[in-house]
Amino acid sequence: MPDRISLRWKVGAIVSLLLVSVAVVIAVALVRYERYFLLQEGDKRVRALTQTLAVSARDALLVGDELRLGPIIQSIMQDPDAVHAFVVDHEGVIAYHPDTQLIGSRLPPPGGQETDGLLEAVVPVVVEETVVGTAVVALSSDFVDRATRATAKGLLARLGLGTLLGLGGILLLTELHVRRIARLEQAVRLLGAGNLRAAVNLRGRDELARLAADFNRMVEELRKAREEIERGVTETVRALASTIEVNDIYTHGHCERVARGTRAVAERLGVDEERLRDFELAALLHDIGKIGVATDILAKKEKLNGTESLQMREHAEFGARILGAVSFLHEVAYYVRHHHENWDGGGYPDGLAGEEVPLASRIIRVVDTYDAMTSSRPYRGALSHDQAIQLLVADRNSQFDAKIVDTFLELAEEGIVESIRHQVDHGLAA
Ligand SMILES: [Fe+2]
Repeated sequence: MPDRISLRWKVGAIVSLLLVSVAVVIAVALVRYERYFLLQEGDKRVRALTQTLAVSARDALLVGDELRLGPIIQSIMQDPDAVHAFVVDHEGVIAYHPDTQLIGSRLPPPGGQETDGLLEAVVPVVVEETVVGTAVVALSSDFVDRATRATAKGLLARLGLGTLLGLGGILLLTELHVRRIARLEQAVRLLGAGNLRAAVNLRGRDELARLAADFNRMVEELRKAREEIERGVTETVRALASTIEVNDIYTHGHCERVARGTRAVAERLGVDEERLRDFELAALLHDIGKIGVATDILAKKEKLNGTESLQMREHAEFGARILGAVSFLHEVAYYVRHHHENWDGGGYPDGLAGEEVPLASRIIRVVDTYDAMTSSRPYRGALSHDQAIQLLVADRNSQFDAKIVDTFLELAEEGIVESIRHQVDHGLAA
């Protein structure tokens, strides 16, 4: 979980930084352009005013009536940005200035560009190609600063809002992508835990969707490969198990009948398909441990003595050891170990009781006993179906789980038990 949060925040932080950087660059560029534009406009305005003053000054200087310049200069000074406007004669002496005390004095030549917050223009007063004076007008550049600040504020608000909205959208997109990555991560974890059905469905055509599709194909290949291996090992173990029936001809088809009967009971009890496979396999291989029991004991027609019985009992543990060596048969081995446990705790090898005994083992116990009773054994003939059922019912809650006996009876009444025997005896598929 911390990694997922870390990824989300890393992407969010990087994208946010980029977005804010872009917004700042755009804002600075716009403000600079706005300032440049306003300065150009201000310059044009001050030049136009100065030009007008120069034209008026020409006549006034020609006739030596500088007072004529009063109205035009007053008119210029009414401009809210006007700082000064005056006319200098050809000797550099101020010919007219709104501050009349300055008339007749000399001033240093003006700059004609933005200086100390001023936009100043200087236009020569020309009469027949002779410069007879100079008109000077200056505007304050404060209006440029005010307009620039206003523009910057407006931009800040708009870009701020845009950045926030953009951030929200990008974080949302990031979140969606991170969730997709998390789903893929979850599937990889499941696969790592051995779940070969850990498919992940990511829509789209981007890299993640392609990665998910590749992952699913890989899982599918792994699943097929594992099934192939399991099938091979299972067939090998089944072949091994069949040697029991070769040694003990009286139980021919016994394991297959118990397997199909166990599946039928388990299905009726609602066991899911995944577990059914293990239940059926455990039933099929329940007596594989008899490989380790002497053949003369297996084939003995008389009742077994104490030592022989103990040796025969060992087949449950021995079978579990054989199957336990195969990793995917651990559960099956566990069921096999306990297929001779009794509901009342009187069975072997561990004396488990009630629901301590695995469900598969309890089912095998009932189906195995029924099949053994209705088959001929070296030491006795076969019992009839009714006799076997009577014995099962008699041992409800002692040897057998009553619920399983009842389910088995239900299947028997429906003809399923007989049908299984028929199918196995005639080599028919389930
Ligand atoms: Fe057994």
